[in-house]
Amino acid sequence: MSFQSDDSPRWRRPGADSGRDAFVTEDETATRSWSRSRPSIDADHHVPIVAVHELTRDYVTPAHTVQALKGIDFTIDRGQLVAVRGRSGSGKTTLLNLLGGLDKPTTGSVRVDGADITVMDESDLVQLRREKIGFVFQAFGLIPILTAAENVEIPLRLSHASVAEREERVRILLELVGLGERSSHRPHELSGGEQQRVALARALANGPQLLLADEPTGQLDSRTGRSIMNLILALVRSEGVTAIVATHDPALIDIADRVIDILDGRVIADTANENELVMTGQ
Ligand SMILES: Nc1ncnc2c1ncn2[C@@H]1O[C@H](COP(=O)(O)OP(=O)(O)O)[C@@H](O)[C@H]1O
Ligand SMILES: [Mg+2]
Repeated sequence: MSFQSDDSPRWRRPGADSGRDAFVTEDETATRSWSRSRPSIDADHHVPIVAVHELTRDYVTPAHTVQALKGIDFTIDRGQLVAVRGRSGSGKTTLLNLLGGLDKPTTGSVRVDGADITVMDESDLVQLRREKIGFVFQAFGLIPILTAAENVEIPLRLSHASVAEREERVRILLELVGLGERSSHRPHELSGGEQQRVALARALANGPQLLLADEPTGQLDSRTGRSIMNLILALVRSEGVTAIVATHDPALIDIADRVIDILDGRVIADTANENELVMTGQ
């Protein structure tokens, strides 16, 4: 079963350059020859993948109100690796939850792929998250009794693909993250870095345009963390996905295309990395 066939179009992003899309051909994923250049942007895709405007989020409790976000504005282009940096409590998780439609803002708008997700009902949000967004969390979030392959397969169960197509897709995804040999291992049989690779494969299962990662290396040692950040960069380059990663990790700050610094719910700096990016391998 090839994913080039027209009967599984959901796994093939029309905007991706098919020569570089590791979701499309098996041969390319087998060699994992990551592209080092920026992916070409589809001519139809002039709208930014994410645009937030005057975004605020107040948490109201009986005792007091916490203004977690105090008016955030930014636009994020496709195919970028963006770091959101800020000390604990600065609002990173609140921001990522709003970008992924997991929470509603108090005021302001969040546009994902041109659509204001703050006015969507829950069923539209479920569909948006399933089709366009992949999530990765600090604590990996794998289901302990399921194998690596079964964990990756979960999002695919909601697609209309056959069992054979899903198995092939899972195999490709696990190879993409360098875990082709570990598909039958359960999470406790994997290292932390391997578990986060499985979580990345799962996040990419439906070919999302946007990957949201909340401190994905927070539980990993620095060397393993660096390999996860390099993998995320490789996925951004090869898949054309846009990644927004909340982190303090210098490994990401070094390789990100852009660093958005937040403090107490406000953007205090927004810096593009002008350096030519060089892959350092895994
Ligand atoms: N569910 C909640 N209820 C009340 N306050 C919250 C809630 N979630 C987060 N906060 C507060 O909002 C602020 C931002 O939190 P958060 O977005 O988790 O920051 P970060 O991810 O940068 O550590 C903090 O002051 C935090 O205590
Ligand atoms: Mg957080």
